[in-house]
Amino acid sequence: IPQGEELVKAILKLKEEKNAVILAHYYQPGEIQDIADFLGDSLQLARQAKDTNADMIVFCGVHFMAEAAKILNPTKKVVLPDTMAGCSLADGCSGEGLRKMREQHPNALIATYINCNAETKAESDIIVTSSNAETVIEALPKDRPIIFAPDKNLGRYLSKKTGRDMILWDGSCVVHEAFSMERIAQQLADNPDAKLIAHPESEEAVLKLAHFIGSTSALLNYVEKDDCQKFIIATEEGILHEMRKRAPHKELIPALVFDESCNCSECFYMKRNTMEKLYLCMKYELPEILIDEELRLKALKPIEAMLDLSK
Ligand code: 13P
Ligand code: SF4
Repeated sequence: IPQGEELVKAILKLKEEKNAVILAHYYQPGEIQDIADFLGDSLQLARQAKDTNADMIVFCGVHFMAEAAKILNPTKKVVLPDTMAGCSLADGCSGEGLRKMREQHPNALIATYINCNAETKAESDIIVTSSNAETVIEALPKDRPIIFAPDKNLGRYLSKKTGRDMILWDGSCVVHEAFSMERIAQQLADNPDAKLIAHPESEEAVLKLAHFIGSTSALLNYVEKDDCQKFIIATEEGILHEMRKRAPHKELIPALVFDESCNCSECFYMKRNTMEKLYLCMKYELPEILIDEELRLKALKPIEAMLDLSK
């Protein structure tokens, strides 16, 4: 495997030869973000995947994101540098579990966070991402209860924002749950001129302290546009790479986690992707995301329902 600059050149060459597009999430390692054709949050990346003319989609993110790309654009080859790039939310929720919840609440609508696998999507009425969740939930008929899965923190936050009662699946993101409210309160006390911004996957106690709550793209826009010069960032540390580019003169402080030996929160799933694995997956066009057609069509329906509502 080539190294350094040669590795970058080799990836770009493969991209050209294979008419590939590299899509990367903001939590990816910085060098992968730098080489990507499109960088975005989960909704932006799903849209890019749906509309691309490339023959091969190289998805630098986690498995559920690459799977969503395949669901939306089945004629393209979709590859992911490391198939072990999972997600604690997706791993903790199953289609069978949702079916059981529906049996218990037959009148409920199931709104599911995009951080889930295809079987779970297939059992859902509508999908949401963190950037359109409020709009989607507001649009659901008021006379039906809502089951929200799998992220209880995002669900609780949405229920408060929209005033809709929700039956919550008991799932969470291991990365955002690691933030320590006590240590962040101390960071705010030590930096009275800073604002705390947080992803809604964070726990309620952290969200209560936050000056702004939003998806990865919303957090980026906020830091760029707001007058404040100092921010404490409660989301995965990979986002700092793009934030520093967009707001080079602002001070960005990662929010602290419970583990005192760490000074930021990393998603070890996202970080399974490396430049070397990216090169190999483009060269061999593996590992490829494949999905049974019947399941794909079932999973597509609630994703399309979401896209129709959040144009
Ligand atoms: P965004 O849609 O805000 O990018 O979030 C994806 C994610 O996995 C957050 O942990
Ligand atoms: Fe999943 Fe959390 Fe990693 Fe996002 S940060 S991919 S929700 S484990």
